[in-house]
Amino acid sequence: MASTTMNQLIKPLEAGIRGVYTPPGDKSISHRAAMIAALAKGISRVTNFLMAEDCLNTVQVLQALGVPIRVGKNDIEVRGVGLTGLKPSEKELYCGNSGTTLRLMAGILAGQPFESILTGDASLSKRPMKRITDPLRDMGAEISGPDNGNYPPLHIKGGKLQGIYVDNKLSSAQVKSALMLAGLYAQGETVIRESVPSRDHTENLFKFFQADFERTEDSVIVRPSKKLVGLDFRIPSDPSSAAFFVVAAIHSEDSFLTVKDTCLNPTRTGFLEVLKRMGAKIEVKVNESDFEPVGEIKCFTSFLRGTTISGRMIPRLIDELPILMVAAAMASGETVSRGAQELRVKETDRIKAMCDNLKALGVQVTEKEDGCIIHGKAFIRGGKVKSYGDHRTAMSMAVAGLLSQEGVEIEDVDCVATSYPGFFEDLAALSA
Ligand code: S3P
Repeated sequence: MASTTMNQLIKPLEAGIRGVYTPPGDKSISHRAAMIAALAKGISRVTNFLMAEDCLNTVQVLQALGVPIRVGKNDIEVRGVGLTGLKPSEKELYCGNSGTTLRLMAGILAGQPFESILTGDASLSKRPMKRITDPLRDMGAEISGPDNGNYPPLHIKGGKLQGIYVDNKLSSAQVKSALMLAGLYAQGETVIRESVPSRDHTENLFKFFQADFERTEDSVIVRPSKKLVGLDFRIPSDPSSAAFFVVAAIHSEDSFLTVKDTCLNPTRTGFLEVLKRMGAKIEVKVNESDFEPVGEIKCFTSFLRGTTISGRMIPRLIDELPILMVAAAMASGETVSRGAQELRVKETDRIKAMCDNLKALGVQVTEKEDGCIIHGKAFIRGGKVKSYGDHRTAMSMAVAGLLSQEGVEIEDVDCVATSYPGFFEDLAALSA
């Protein structure tokens, strides 16, 4: 991939954020929709699919495995090949920056009677894979890669899997989903337990596509499925994308923002609960529930105080912690986050990236191994920061720029295209 150093200057807001905003389609659900539709029999038409680099990488990987997928402006049409219809790819399967693509596809490929190689960009090639390769090997797949299969490229020789019991101690939805997908191909039951629940979109789509599985209080039990059935559906908008606009609106004067059609799955809405606890005026209305709860978020200018974010809340807002750190800088008092060490192995080390950036903007921050303390003074001076090639760090810094006194220049913002190519346009439209 060509390297780029496009910078973006974000000026302080001159007026409040007002209006109605609909975020793009949900990233986690888009990945899963494409994959599960590919394994179903028949055609699935999926609207509001997230047309961002990460999800398009998933589409390309599936196409390389012989799945006909037509990509429209805002939708995809997947001609599902059935559970046993994938074909070996002649080339390596490039997942770009997308951990979800690589980890979930590893689960599917572990169940195929052929060999595949999954690769990624420089960031993905440094992210830990043992969390999936160990249990997939225990199920019977042969997997090799650098550091005994802990890093991509992963060479997977699949087939003849056996169900196992796994305790998903990291509360990682990517691990759980990889094992659920492998479980479709395994003999016997694949049981994945988690004491702290992670996002459950794979479960919701399994139910929708009629996979053979069940949920108990703390586990998912998957049995080999005979057939998944293709169908048409709409992906709700992404709450993780909405979070940037919600925080910008709360912290600017005279704001009133309505966020429409957003996925309000409780495993994803921890950030709204934390913001409310900090004093944010937010109203949430769940309108309808198809395969995922969907609804509207209304938010208004508010004054926030510090809080503690820890424990069972962490997986429910893991992707929103960077923007919550900006919200905490604009609050009064200390905000402590702990138990968030997983942030260190995301697209970049997000604890370090955000702490260094916030310090560069004049915010007092204490970095901890598993989180940080933001000493909020309702003030962000401004300055120059880096994206570290990470989309969520870049977008969090853009919001920091809007709320700052002097503006923020962000180095290397092309990475926002991994999850939200229209981010800067949407931000400009709402803050004009
Ligand atoms: C995701 C799960 C989370 C999240 C990531 C997307 C998913 O990661 O951080 O952005 O779609 O399953 P982990 O499963 O590694 O916690």
